[in-house]
Order: sequence, then structure tokens, then C-alpha cells
Amino acid sequence: MSEAMAQFIEEVREIVREGGTEEEMTSKVAEVMEGLLDLPDLFNPEHLRITKGSYVLHPLHIEEDGSFSIAAAVCDVGQVTPIHDHGTWGVTAIYQGIEREERFRPPFDGPPKCDQEWEAEEGEVFVCCTSDEDIHRVSCGSDVPCVGIHVYGADIGAIERRIYDVKTGKVKTFVSGWG
Ligand SMILES: [Fe+2]
Repeated sequence: MSEAMAQFIEEVREIVREGGTEEEMTSKVAEVMEGLLDLPDLFNPEHLRITKGSYVLHPLHIEEDGSFSIAAAVCDVGQVTPIHDHGTWGVTAIYQGIEREERFRPPFDGPPKCDQEWEAEEGEVFVCCTSDEDIHRVSCGSDVPCVGIHVYGADIGAIERRIYDVKTGKVKTFVSGWG
């Protein structure tokens, strides 16, 4: 692990230990992520690996007590996630490419309708989820794979989350696992 990543993990650990509201924690995490993308050697080649047929989360760090995790999220050209939630807060920094975001607001009585859509470009840092704004779908909006660093307030690969059927809005639980 690079020195830059080790230092970043320590900074996130401090923020999580300090606690506070989701708004306070995500804004502090976003602040320390602002300079992060300029630092060298954040990833090794394994972290940038695409997975055929599906968006993938590679673990950069999983805190032992499950209080936070840091992922390299890789979305290949043409890939799109299901409509899903996180059950925790999350902050994203786009390292490469463009991430297309669509947000959905429950409850769903039929097909979930997108009420906000935007594209996040290389270098952008944004809050990707909180308890109030938790349901989205992500796709690659560039002609190169989109890679982002995602920080979540839980072990995002291990917790139970929800997927919403695109036609009916029906909920299914899932555990994403780690790539
Ligand atoms: Fe997500």
C-alpha cells in the first residue's frame, strides 16, 4: 500500500472515530478526498481490473470493525449497475473516466422513476449516498472504464443491501461482495 493511501485511511479513521451526523462525516471525508487524486500510487493494477459483465468493487481498505471501507469502483464501458441502495453514507472521487448517476426517490409503486441525473467527471468529489438520498444507478459515461475511489460508512461488500426491479420497483436484498 502506498504512503498516500495509508495516510488517507488514517484520516478517514479519525473522522469516523470522531463521529457526528452523516452530513458532517461526509463533508469531512469529501474534504480529505479533494487532494487525494493528485497523489501517486494510489492503486496497483489489480485495483483497476474490470470484470466482464458487471461493475466491481475492489477493496482498498476494510476497517476491521466494519465501521468504514474504501473501494476502487470500476465500471467498464457499457456497464450499468442495478438500481440499488447502500444503507450507509458514501463519498466518491472520480479517478478516471465519467460516472453517470441516476437517483431515485422511494416509495416505488411500479417502475422507479429517476428524479435526478448527472455525470461526474475525472477529479470530481461528491457525496454519493446518505440515508435520505440512498437509491441510485451508476453507469460508465465515458469511452474508457470509469474508476472511482468510494468511501462508505460500513463494510460495503459485506452488508445486506437492496436492489429495486427496474420494471416493478420490487425490492430484493443482496450482498455485493468484493471483487
Ligand atoms: Fe452505489
